[in-house]
Amino acid sequence: MNVLVVGGAGYIGSHTTYELIRAGHEVVVLDNLSTGSHKSIHPQAHFEWGDIRRKGDITRVLKAQAQAGKPIDVAMHFAAKLIVPESVTQPLAYYENNVEGLRCMLEALIECGVQNIVFSSTAAVYGEPKAPECREGDPTEPINPYGETKLACEKMIKWAAAAHGLNYCILRYFNVAGADASLQIGLDKDQLTHLVPLIMQAALGLRDKLSIFGADYPTPDGTCIRDYIHVTDLAQAHVLGAAYILNNNTNVLANLGSGTGFSVKQVVDAALELFDVPFEYAPRRPGDPAKLIANIDHAKTVLGWEPQHGLQSILKSDYDFRQKLNKSSEV
Ligand code: UFG
Repeated sequence: MNVLVVGGAGYIGSHTTYELIRAGHEVVVLDNLSTGSHKSIHPQAHFEWGDIRRKGDITRVLKAQAQAGKPIDVAMHFAAKLIVPESVTQPLAYYENNVEGLRCMLEALIECGVQNIVFSSTAAVYGEPKAPECREGDPTEPINPYGETKLACEKMIKWAAAAHGLNYCILRYFNVAGADASLQIGLDKDQLTHLVPLIMQAALGLRDKLSIFGADYPTPDGTCIRDYIHVTDLAQAHVLGAAYILNNNTNVLANLGSGTGFSVKQVVDAALELFDVPFEYAPRRPGDPAKLIANIDHAKTVLGWEPQHGLQSILKSDYDFRQKLNKSSEV
């Protein structure tokens, strides 16, 4: 496959690019480098600077590939804002980047005859689920602007697919963490907000302590429950999903998680088995649902996918990556 990865310099886009190249595919990365970094782009990927909100940036790349005799088979969308608390304070920025960005990308794909799209969606579309695990057919009632924008994107893709004959693979991510085994790439940002990297920063002495946001949720230990998936497992599901819709001329909507939930305190306890992690309890953070756990039967059955990494492996790989980053910044 020749794959366009929009947002391929970011965390999940860069890991997916690595897995695509490992599986023998060709990759063109389009990114505006606003949050991603050039050094995260696989050296064998072809890089084009561009902004998803400018249709011409995308059509230029698609047309150049077609003229070179290598038309894009599948386009993947990773260029989104994804921080839940930030979306609560800046909802319009989320609509502009996530919803308007996707609209431009879809117009470009349709104009250039690219029929297959893989889209990063999120467990946040489920809102505050009532069932013990989220299934793809469950009600979607987001409780934060981030989830609302991703749900709007899902719907836009479905309508556009029906009208213009596109195939889509929509993947609803649960909590993604960890780093590539090469340690060349990982979650490398100045302003970290996600639990696993913040635990590792506390373990490495790069921050005083971790704050656990809320101990009064309706869960066994009072802290929020999430389903953590290794970024490499997640990236491999994209490779399978892209090939599946391309080869079968069909659509997929699937959860990607591990199928197991851990509370924030359980994640901290698992980290404490490996490292010393100073922590404190703090008030709730706005926009957090109490519990999100994936049912992953659909991804397993349809894509033949099976996650390979457990929580300890996720924690260890993020720690190793962060330790390496810290050493290189000291040099
Ligand atoms: N948390 C803390 N302390 C921290 C950071 C996080 O206690 O310093 C808690 C949060 O309150 C939450 C849990 O850890 O209960 C996980 O928080 P993250 O910020 O790591 O991730 P979120 O669950 O908010 O969101 C992530 C992705 C979303 C996705 C969601 C799906 O960012 O894109 O997982 O479960 F929708």
